[in-house]
Amino acid sequence: MPRVLSGIQPSGQLTLGNYIGAIQNFVKLQETHECFFMVVDLHAITVPQEPAALREQTEAVAALFIAAGIDPNKASVFAQSHVAPHAELGWLFTTLAYMGELERMTQFKDKSSGKDSVGAGLFVYPTLMAADILLYNADLVPVGDDQKQHLELTRDLAQRFNQRYGDMFTVPQPYIPKVGARIMSLDDGTKKMSKSNPNPASYIALLDPPDVIRKKISRATTDSGREVKFNPAEKPEVSNLMSIFSHCADLTLEEIEARYEGQGYGAFKKDLAEAVVSKLEPLQKRYAEIRSSGEIHDILKQGAENVSVIAHQTLREAKERMGFLLPR
Ligand code: AMP
Ligand code: TRP
Repeated sequence: MPRVLSGIQPSGQLTLGNYIGAIQNFVKLQETHECFFMVVDLHAITVPQEPAALREQTEAVAALFIAAGIDPNKASVFAQSHVAPHAELGWLFTTLAYMGELERMTQFKDKSSGKDSVGAGLFVYPTLMAADILLYNADLVPVGDDQKQHLELTRDLAQRFNQRYGDMFTVPQPYIPKVGARIMSLDDGTKKMSKSNPNPASYIALLDPPDVIRKKISRATTDSGREVKFNPAEKPEVSNLMSIFSHCADLTLEEIEARYEGQGYGAFKKDLAEAVVSKLEPLQKRYAEIRSSGEIHDILKQGAENVSVIAHQTLREAKERMGFLLPR
């Protein structure tokens, strides 16, 4: 079975963007692939995190994976920091990467622009991500559009290692949804929906209560026209809402256009809100059950156990090829 790996940072409330861009594909892929899904806590600390909040969010993201439909009997769900080889292989790849290629990463440029002091971890972040993926020789990496450049770098680093030290790492492929790879902010159709946006009205959190979801959608920015038409260049906000609708109600963009022809935005937004509420309702219910049962600790423990053997083997082989004296 081909292997899949992906990760999400426990750095805030997960949004509908995370769900549509990434988690929905995780759930689909677990049926046909060997899957590894991680809460990437080591990545989260590349920006300051309050210790108690980091712990809580790590548990919350893992529980959301399960609530969204990831079956721990089919996929391994684990915390990155529970499997030590991630950090170690990450260091090895940091030494293989060039300053120039890391400076070109748009996520680094976005997150560091205008800041007086920028953590060094934020800069080398992509080499740790490469290690996450290559440790398991993953074939496929389901992510949203914003991670494409990091995946390219991962492929370059794998090839660089293979060239220098002999073929060892699988060069992974990204797996990016056709519609919904970049869900945009509700208040600005040119910015991606992000859990780190200080304005909560800009995103729908997976755990937002129904009334909050309704309010956020009714207040979402739209253009001054009244046509429900998919045209991301000219109508970015409406097109974004249509992508969300398409995913939540299982309708094509054409079906949505046909349904709201001549009706303006009001009816469309109302139905959209109900579609999002019904999509998230079962997830929220399962989430509450999982959190109160405390089962997430066992799931994470089992997940880390499942993947540890592979991770240690890969790390050992990489170190051997690079010329480290291995303990006998
Ligand atoms: P992050 O929240 O940065 O850890 O992202 C976790 C996953 O969700 C990655 O695969 C991202 O590409 C994806 N993702 C995050 N925000 C969005 C968005 N607004 N639209 C689509 N995918 C997203
Ligand atoms: N960098 C990814 C993000 O911010 C998270 C991530 C870390 C990841 N390691 C990964 C995604 C490995 C896929 C595979 O979204």
